[in-house]
Amino acid sequence: MNRPLRCALAAAFLSQHVRGQALSSSDMSTITNNLATGAQQSWELGTRAQSLLELYVPDFSVFSSTGLPPPASVPSNTTSAIAPVFSIAHNIVSALKNSSGPAPLVAGDGAAGDPAAIGVAVLLANWTGQGASDGVNYAAAAQNQLEYLLNVVPHTSDGAISHRVAQVQLWSDSVYMVPPFLAYYGVLTGNTTLLTEAYNQIKLYRNYLRDTSAKNLWKHIVLGNNSADDGGNDEGHWSTGNGWAAAGMLRVIATMKNSPYNNDFSSQQKDLASWVKEIHTAMYAHIDSTNIFTNYADQSVSSTGQFYDTASTTLLASTVYRASLLLGDHSHLPNAEKSRKALWATSNNSSSTSTAAHARRAAASASSGSSAKGSGSAPVSGSATSASATATSPPSSSPSATTAPLTDLVHFTSDGWLTPVVNPHQFGVQGSDSPEGEAFVVSLQAAYNEWVAGGSVGANAARRTASSAAGWVWVIGCTVLGSILAYA
Ligand SMILES: *[C@@H]1O[C@H](CO)[C@@H](O)[C@H](O)[C@H]1NC(C)=O
Ligand SMILES: *[C@@H]1O[C@H](CO)[C@@H](O)[C@H](O)[C@H]1NC(C)=O
Ligand SMILES: *[C@@H]1O[C@H](CO)[C@@H](O)[C@H](O)[C@H]1NC(C)=O
Ligand SMILES: *[C@@H]1O[C@H](CO)[C@@H](O)[C@H](O)[C@H]1NC(C)=O
Ligand SMILES: *[C@@H]1O[C@H](CO)[C@@H](O)[C@H](O)[C@H]1NC(C)=O
Ligand SMILES: *[C@@H]1O[C@H](CO)[C@@H](O)[C@H](O)[C@H]1NC(C)=O
Ligand SMILES: *[C@@H]1O[C@H](CO)[C@@H](O)[C@H](O)[C@H]1NC(C)=O
Repeated sequence: MNRPLRCALAAAFLSQHVRGQALSSSDMSTITNNLATGAQQSWELGTRAQSLLELYVPDFSVFSSTGLPPPASVPSNTTSAIAPVFSIAHNIVSALKNSSGPAPLVAGDGAAGDPAAIGVAVLLANWTGQGASDGVNYAAAAQNQLEYLLNVVPHTSDGAISHRVAQVQLWSDSVYMVPPFLAYYGVLTGNTTLLTEAYNQIKLYRNYLRDTSAKNLWKHIVLGNNSADDGGNDEGHWSTGNGWAAAGMLRVIATMKNSPYNNDFSSQQKDLASWVKEIHTAMYAHIDSTNIFTNYADQSVSSTGQFYDTASTTLLASTVYRASLLLGDHSHLPNAEKSRKALWATSNNSSSTSTAAHARRAAASASSGSSAKGSGSAPVSGSATSASATATSPPSSSPSATTAPLTDLVHFTSDGWLTPVVNPHQFGVQGSDSPEGEAFVVSLQAAYNEWVAGGSVGANAARRTASSAAGWVWVIGCTVLGSILAYA
């Protein structure tokens, strides 16, 4: 190996290490672009809005440290970051034909729960006065959606709101779609009954879906008949469904905790926190040495029809960082760290193509630093700082970077789709190009960045430190060598 190449590799290594802390902002714009074009279904739009708030508009997310309700107007430095979220709300609400009476945000959706996933974006559009400029009645649409859930959609006899319109059927997915909307509605309108309702719905769903004979994994779909045209039942422990449930609970906890009603809802938050942990404990007990979940967590990859699913793995990992930040519960961080490293792993392929890709990434990463032409060490740490700082700014609207983003990551396709993934429209089979998977990457990036910014509390960092030291030795060596050559 010649010297420049070796130095390039050392730089690539360090950049890899540093960039291993988070995907770059150009990687994130590839991913958010995929998400923007891919998300078409109601729950995909809602999930997209939520993940964009988490990463790019944190002050307007329920996880905001500045508290709820959010500011009533959008500061000028935030308008472009929040624009895609308002655009989802605008397109959805302005397409509604009838603004009177109970109605879902998306007409004709067979799912009762999924349209409500867009509700948070609609409430936020109302709260910040978007209707004054575009003439759309966001408040009425949100209220109609609320009344539809409470009064029209079928319920179980004990009050769980069905995830389907045509029959009572409960899906774990619903925990992400409905309770966060109810809770947010409650905080923005000062109606604590709705905060209680958000909690009750989750409690009811857990009663039906938690499988004590499977050590508390959640089933995917119960009740209702098994007609194929309406989804059918799925008593399996679908990994994404367990992730949806944990993520929905964390959003409800955050909505309560960051609101003026925090103290009134302390016991509910405590329950919810224990239910999140219950899912983490149940799920991570089944992950194999790849640190990637199978589509049904308790089935091995060699079982018929099983495959590895990076979408659920990403979602679950994001909930572990969130739980750490929100609840101070770090117990599953070592699991999440292992999964994150597996998800962001580079190819072990030592072919020249791969080496070139690493070198390109290193160059791109270094040149994004503010002082890329300086000494060996400064630009690298500079680029690390700039990468994490720019990760909170809006996706660039300018053409993508000169590198082929994400191409050297094992779990992303060359055009930036997470892989392998479950088909988001057919939960039992493997698919490709999952919009929700891209949203989970955005949520993971957001939670992970915040966790790192907070000091990476609870990580088991011993190994990383050692490999980092080796990288620095190389970089310093190359720098010294570079100076000697410059004077020669
Ligand atoms: C916008 O400006 C405010 C201060 O006015 C600052 O706190 C906030 O972080 C800025 N937001 C962004 C996205 O730059
Ligand atoms: C609008 O919805 C309400 C309540 O669902 C219904 O009574 C009314 O007939 C609808 N109006 C139109 C014009 O469809
Ligand atoms: C809409 O926003 C206004 C504040 O601008 C608020 O008073 C009202 O409660 C909101 N309505 C809903 C349904 O959130
Ligand atoms: C099953 O539920 C669907 C609604 O999803 C209904 O149309 C169908 O008649 C039901 N079938 C049976 C056998 O109950
Ligand atoms: C809270 O919301 C529920 C459901 O819409 C409604 O029935 C109730 O009257 C509201 N309570 C207050 C105090 O506005
Ligand atoms: C290298 O990657 C291949 C394909 O992903 C994998 O099967 C193999 O186990 C890896 N080898 C090592 C040493 O990690
Ligand atoms: C290694 O890279 C070469 C060239 O890009 C590719 O053909 C091969 O499939 C790769 N192998 C693995 C295990 O990724």
